[in-house]
Amino acid sequence: MIIEPKLILVTGGTGFIGSHTVVELLQAGHEVLVVDDLSNSRIEVLDAIAQISGKRPLFEQVDITDREALDGVFKKFHGQIEGVIHFAAKKAVGESVQFPLMYYRVNVGGTVNLLECMAGHGVESIVFSSSCTVYGQPDVIPVNESAPRKDAESPYGNTKRICEDVLRDASASSSLMVVALRYFNPIGAHASALIGELPLGTPNNLVPYITQTGIGKREQLTVHGNDYPTPDGTCIRDYIHVVDLAKAHIRALGRLLDRQQKATYEVFNIGTGSGSTVLEVIRTFEKVSGRSLNYRIGPRRAGDITQVYADTVYSNAELGWKAGLGLEEALRSAWAWEQHCQTLGL
Ligand code: NAD
Ligand code: WQD
Repeated sequence: MIIEPKLILVTGGTGFIGSHTVVELLQAGHEVLVVDDLSNSRIEVLDAIAQISGKRPLFEQVDITDREALDGVFKKFHGQIEGVIHFAAKKAVGESVQFPLMYYRVNVGGTVNLLECMAGHGVESIVFSSSCTVYGQPDVIPVNESAPRKDAESPYGNTKRICEDVLRDASASSSLMVVALRYFNPIGAHASALIGELPLGTPNNLVPYITQTGIGKREQLTVHGNDYPTPDGTCIRDYIHVVDLAKAHIRALGRLLDRQQKATYEVFNIGTGSGSTVLEVIRTFEKVSGRSLNYRIGPRRAGDITQVYADTVYSNAELGWKAGLGLEEALRSAWAWEQHCQTLGL
């Protein structure tokens, strides 16, 4: 009997973006195998995914830098894996400056391991988590996919650029097919409030810092500078709802599995196409939560760029995808998730 390959392997599938994507995959009728070492996520996320989607993904607790263990997963499911969505990576910009080799080992080494396992087991399609960080401060805004990539501000950013190159080169010399998605700033949580972003320790990113301050877990938010050349002096980013982002992965995967791509290596911006300042995000949070946020204006943060938001014309047209949720919905869901975390004692 010939077994049709039908599993989607999701590395980092218990993490923030991965868990939301697994829900969308299950709801779209895919069968999912999650590979995660749980270094930045909790096993209970699988229960929450099952509660939301009525289906439970398969799970293997494996570190993608452990070549033998990863290959063991591909052996165990040989002939069944149809495609891969690769989220597993370390993502803390500051930590990457302190421990660059760890970032190169996990993000770059892990990706090379994964690609070698895929090649060894005849798996050809991969969706990769890249980042708008590869653009640095773009010369033209909104930034489109043809804009030059700039020198990264951090080893983390550099790993994303290097992985893009590794994927491009590997696809040029083999049957590998790649869609790299450059995410802008993912925020928010699932409408059920059962999954969301769970930073370990003090958050680095704006929205978890805001919600944790709103709930009293943090004393005060510091706005990193209000002397930028923007309408209110604070930096501008393209905040995209994680559920919209998850849905973009389903489109990207479908494009690969249906062999609709125009090249073996493709890149798409995944953002909303519009930017918000830090103060706009704070005001919107205050509106949806009904709380006033304790914040102060501090100095600029090293490495911050003034403004970036996506030109989404190409991704909207090619993927047939468009962000549908706005900043208010994203912050409302992030706030509901923060409140759920409080009830769980997280
Ligand atoms: P996350 O930390 O919530 O999820 C990553 C998951 O990968 C975690 O569950 C973690 O346990 C797992 N993981 C880490 N190292 C691993 C290893 N060696 N082996 C197996 N599993 C491992 O992060 P996220 O926000 O969901 O990000 C997912 C991807 O998207 C990452 O590649 C990240 O670089 C990229 N990205 C994130 C953002 C963002 O702001 N969140 C923006 C752009 C790109
Ligand atoms: C957003 C804005 C801060 C915290 C980072 C990575 C990037 C990507 C997404 C993965 C900025 C301001 C923040 C705070 C603040 N990740 N801020 N007070 O820096 O755009 O991007 O995450 O690929 O690579 O660099 O996101 O959420 O940290 O900051 O004023 O306590 O909020 O200065 O203007 P960023 P962020």
